[in-house]
Amino acid sequence: MGSWTKLVFTMQKEYAVQISSSNLRFGAGVTREVGMDLADRGIKRVLVLTDANLKRLQPVQTVLESLESENIEYDLFAEVRVEPTDISVKQAVAVAVAGKYDGYVAVGGGSVMDTAKAANLYASYPDDFYAYINAPIGQGKPVPGPVKPLIAIPTTAGTGSETTGVSIMDLTEHHAKTGIAHHLLKPTLGLVDPENTRTMPAIIAACSGLDVLCHALESYTAMPFNQRPRPERPMYRPAYQGSNPISDIWALKAVTLTSQNLLTAVQDPENTNARSNMILAASMAGMGFGNAGVHLCHGMSYPVSGMVHSYRPEGINLDYPIIPHGMSVILNAPAVFRFTGKADPQRHLTLAEIMGADISSIRSPIDEAGELLADCIVDLMKKLEIPNGLSAVGYTSEDIPNLVAGTIPQHRVTKISPRQAGASDLEKMFTDALKAWD
Ligand SMILES: NC(=O)c1ccc[n+]([C@@H]2O[C@H](COP(=O)([O-])OP(=O)(O)OC[C@H]3O[C@@H](n4cnc5c(N)ncnc54)[C@H](O)[C@@H]3O)[C@@H](O)[C@H]2O)c1
Repeated sequence: MGSWTKLVFTMQKEYAVQISSSNLRFGAGVTREVGMDLADRGIKRVLVLTDANLKRLQPVQTVLESLESENIEYDLFAEVRVEPTDISVKQAVAVAVAGKYDGYVAVGGGSVMDTAKAANLYASYPDDFYAYINAPIGQGKPVPGPVKPLIAIPTTAGTGSETTGVSIMDLTEHHAKTGIAHHLLKPTLGLVDPENTRTMPAIIAACSGLDVLCHALESYTAMPFNQRPRPERPMYRPAYQGSNPISDIWALKAVTLTSQNLLTAVQDPENTNARSNMILAASMAGMGFGNAGVHLCHGMSYPVSGMVHSYRPEGINLDYPIIPHGMSVILNAPAVFRFTGKADPQRHLTLAEIMGADISSIRSPIDEAGELLADCIVDLMKKLEIPNGLSAVGYTSEDIPNLVAGTIPQHRVTKISPRQAGASDLEKMFTDALKAWD
């Protein structure tokens, strides 16, 4: 266990929740303002981060034109890896350290925004790479102080990374994803512009939207914050604190917006209303889960994406296999909510009802609530043409021991599951997740 986590908890239960607000501007066209935002903060030289695909697309062009019109000097780093790894993050860190920038602009999906956060951190406070990585894989050292300004401009309606202090990457040596989580990593400003998601391929729109859904479902069903142990000092209060009355508001609104808009946004990218509502839902879910946390769907997704064999989704042009993040999360979701339903049937029923289920015929909530929510998720997966379970992306029952072993160290998220899952529970859930429907 990392030295930082040994000291932090007392035996008493938590009594408080801390909400770190995010600074967002939402509106069609706000990307054009980024140059003015930097100039008004006295920032003269920035590193713009993106990926090789987005480099050619309108959002990046709009950012560069805006910087040029305000005479902001910039270097463009377009080598962010889709699904970042420690190796790809270290490349971005090296560029950030060498450039001594005043600030950073991230234009892209979660992969880009998360890489930018880590580059900013290690350039601001150089340390051993594992120092800030979440315990128990890393040392879980808190971010020492304020980092340089980062403006995050999402191009997917998914991760909510523009609102969170979280940076996720695959640690190649461990074949599993984890990351860094601290409120000081929250972007200085998120520019949430529905124009930027218009060009998403359907598979990315679907998967990133299902990530939004899971952020909201998991943060609303997470262990209540006052069941966690109380930290010794306020600075040790984790970013992921469990469900709480403030995060709940964001989560419920995000489930509503996603249920009403995701299918339309995927099928008709020109539908401005659906596209706007989805990017709004992504930020809202981010503000909820950024303080409450996510649990088993995400915890189990990290080895699913880290151990991918050969799956290459249609519509994504990459020279390596990936399971898009939202897909790796939703494939576990029906099995997870069947398992957690017993822990808080009422919350599971509330979510199922928002997703369109008729709950009037439920006779035994403790037995039926999780199943009902799972049915709603499976229904949406089918409509969005998501693969039918982990077996459809290349996993077999022989992979399950490794998937379980890859989930166990994900304490940061699995510990706030409303029902604690041991190795045999995880094994059952992964087995259940091999196929989502018959
Ligand atoms: N920091 C957080 O709070 C947080 C939360 C959830 C997930 N994540 C992480 O974020 C990553 C996933 O991010 P993501 O789902 O946003 O996708 P992504 O950034 O990995 O991008 C996926 C693909 O979509 C393409 N793309 C993105 N926007 C596009 C657009 N507008 N037009 C055309 N193509 C576009 C990219 O070029 C890439 O090929 C994962 O690593 C995941 O673990 C982070």
